Amino acid sequence: MTALAYIEDNKQRFLEELFELLRIPSVSADSKFKSDVQRAAEYLKGKFEEAGVDSVEIKPTDGHPIVYAEKILSEELPTVLVYGHYDVQPADPYDLWDTPPFEPTVRDERIYARGSSDDKGQMYMHIKAFEALTSTSELPCNVKFMIEGEEEVGSEHLAQFVKSNKELLKADVILISDTGIINNDNPSITVGLRGLTYVEVEVTGPNRDLHSGMYGGAVANPINVLCEMITSLKDESGHITIPGFYDRVAELTQAERSEMAKAPFDLGQYRDELEIDEEFGEKGYTTLERTGIRPTLDVNGIWGGYTGEGAKTVLPSKAYAKISMRLVPNQVSSEITDLFTEHFNKIAPKSVKVEVRPHHGGEPAVIPTDSLAYQAAKDAFIEAWDKEPIPMREGGSIPIVALFQEELGLDSMLLGFGLDEDAIHSPNESYGLFNYYKGIETITLFYKHFAAKHKQQ
Ligand code: BES
Ligand code: MN
Ligand code: MN
Repeated sequence: MTALAYIEDNKQRFLEELFELLRIPSVSADSKFKSDVQRAAEYLKGKFEEAGVDSVEIKPTDGHPIVYAEKILSEELPTVLVYGHYDVQPADPYDLWDTPPFEPTVRDERIYARGSSDDKGQMYMHIKAFEALTSTSELPCNVKFMIEGEEEVGSEHLAQFVKSNKELLKADVILISDTGIINNDNPSITVGLRGLTYVEVEVTGPNRDLHSGMYGGAVANPINVLCEMITSLKDESGHITIPGFYDRVAELTQAERSEMAKAPFDLGQYRDELEIDEEFGEKGYTTLERTGIRPTLDVNGIWGGYTGEGAKTVLPSKAYAKISMRLVPNQVSSEITDLFTEHFNKIAPKSVKVEVRPHHGGEPAVIPTDSLAYQAAKDAFIEAWDKEPIPMREGGSIPIVALFQEELGLDSMLLGFGLDEDAIHSPNESYGLFNYYKGIETITLFYKHFAAKHKQQ
């Protein structure tokens, strides 16, 4: 039997096993779920054993564990290192889910559950592609798997693991399914990811909450001040005003921009999907450029004062915000954090004190399209989807990709199959059954083409 026939024969079980994994609420950000995160790692260990690896280990870290597995056939063959994550974003707010986030259900040919697309569904495709290849004796490469439990919180301990296990992780290419495609009629390969700087700011006014009648108008309100400060971080053309912010931003040539513009994109449909009358972004750039090649600054959350039921007249002592900046080549996360901190302190009026606390960050990455792996991925798409994939830069971040380049000298092949409608990180996240099965098939074909090209080389 061929690997592709094996996939066809085992479709139902492949789905049931993913459901088991989706039932485990492995939320890495919330310590309440720590034992569930561990349980997800153990579940995967069992599945790797069943799939036919030589060895699998749960590697503890100071945070959540890494699942490492491998099957080494021969020194002569190329080695593929598969990376993915089994942790998920918090499912809050739960009441906006039509069905509970950790009780996977299929509706309209889609799997609804937290992590169905990001990244359990996409990561699990790799274990099943591997199983199909080994079970049919078609595996043409050595394979190593490194599946982490902290991607959604910055991959801090994975970075340490990579730095201290370079020999173990030796490979010819890294293969990742944790990104998207344009749509099912226009498959694409992600060739760029943005970096990230994430900070939390605290603005303090008076030393205690005050009566807003007795003091209002005479003492600075830190929430008002914070809002003014945030507003001033962008001008009316959507340009970020932090001095030096754009200094290292790589400008694309007109030719590169025209190439990008070839990707199919329907602004009307984009607006309809989001129910917005108009998009917003930096003047002089298209929507795809705004997410693909331009940096941003966004408030992710803002709070302070009284937000409970009814009205309480209070002039609060403190206000807070979480602010993220998406970065593009050749911006450096730590530098942008410093520029932000310096600027934010500088624009604070004397009436308040501010503190900036940095969170995790990561560097942007660009993937070359002239590699063997890219050609193999292209051929796999042509065979499985009957279409040539379009190279695309995406706005999301996978910080470990730049670190893999830096520490292992390896580029990642971003072979993702998510769609915008998957609504990752949102309530009612879902993943198409078509994409799940087509993804397993495409990955299987990638191995075949990659090994063949390697041989020819
Ligand atoms: N899989 C996403 C990244 C992604 C999404 C890439 C869509 C391309 C398209 C990943 O799990 C993620 O959410 N990353 C975080 C960064 C992390 C440091 C918290 C992100 O982009 O916000
Ligand atoms: Mn992900
Ligand atoms: Mn994510």
